[in-house]
Amino acid sequence: MSDTDLLIDKLFHTGHLEEDEYRCLIDGRTDELAGKLAALAVQKREGIYGKDVFIRGPIEISNICRNDCYYCGIRRSNTECDRYRLTQEEILACADTGYELGFRTFVLQGGEDPFFSDDVLCSIISEIKSRHGDCAVTLSMGERSKESYQRLYDAGADRYLLRHETADRTHYGRLHPEEMSFDNRMRCLQDLRDIGYMVGCGFMVSSPYQTSAELAKDLRFIEEFRPDMCGIGPFIPHKNTPFRDEEQGSAELTCYLLSIIRLIYPSILLPATTALGTSDVVGREKGILAGANVIMPNLSPVRVRKKYELYDGKICTGEETAECIRCLEGRINKIGYRIVVDRGDIRKE
Ligand code: 5AD
Ligand code: FES
Repeated sequence: MSDTDLLIDKLFHTGHLEEDEYRCLIDGRTDELAGKLAALAVQKREGIYGKDVFIRGPIEISNICRNDCYYCGIRRSNTECDRYRLTQEEILACADTGYELGFRTFVLQGGEDPFFSDDVLCSIISEIKSRHGDCAVTLSMGERSKESYQRLYDAGADRYLLRHETADRTHYGRLHPEEMSFDNRMRCLQDLRDIGYMVGCGFMVSSPYQTSAELAKDLRFIEEFRPDMCGIGPFIPHKNTPFRDEEQGSAELTCYLLSIIRLIYPSILLPATTALGTSDVVGREKGILAGANVIMPNLSPVRVRKKYELYDGKICTGEETAECIRCLEGRINKIGYRIVVDRGDIRKE
């Protein structure tokens, strides 16, 4: 067996590689290796989830953000961004529509908008839970205090998505202004875990200054932290950010990493992200075939979709959710999978 075949074999059997071994696997990437990794990842996933693909409905509640991440289209310095915030009634209406369409997980997602205080969010969460008691509520609202996370949890939030963005401190500093801190990001993830949330982390693939060394660290972080979910997608430049001229990440490398992550932690929930679908017309299908098992069709009102543009060219900004579901159902069935009406909790092996 070649060196890389030995690494794949070790990863498959132990779920673990050293940092330099991950680097070697990434640097030595070929179509053939990608095919082998994907086949093993699919085998592991099918042993746990069969052919089921879970859906989650993100509701993009606000594009107002106090942060200024260099990669993100809704950063506060982007004066071209047309800002909005949904009302509680609008948010609840999105959840009701989603429920009718078969969603059993709602993701409240937004910039770090001070308007969404604990009181405001708690009231929305408890109302969604009282209307749809069989659903999970996931939050993706950025960095908050531990007390705040606790209050939201007590109000009924089940899960929290907070991408770590990069597990390398220096790299983190190159993607964010000085006022943001790697330590606080990691503190948030740990607090969320300690409170009892199901926690999702994640990172962009081929973000500026990222090399296989940083990716290897991300993979080691996933081994150690063992998140319940992990969102990864290619970096896609946004025209009104300092990274406008940087190169876009590839669907191929993203899929390769999805397979590796599935092998690290076979029962993890892994979305084939919208960014993946934006970078390649059949990116989401490729993601599922590489080991992903979640898709996140947008539940936001169509009138705001275009405004929640973290990167250029985001797909599904003109379609109603019902259209996306129909479209996705066709796409998923075509590759031999099925979308299920289910909260989609992690199934421990
Ligand atoms: N390209 C791809 N992904 C991006 N994100 C933010 N900006 C971009 C971009 N330009 C991702 C970040 C963030 C998540 C909500 O979207 O990882 O955590
Ligand atoms: Fe939105 Fe295909 S998934 S149109």
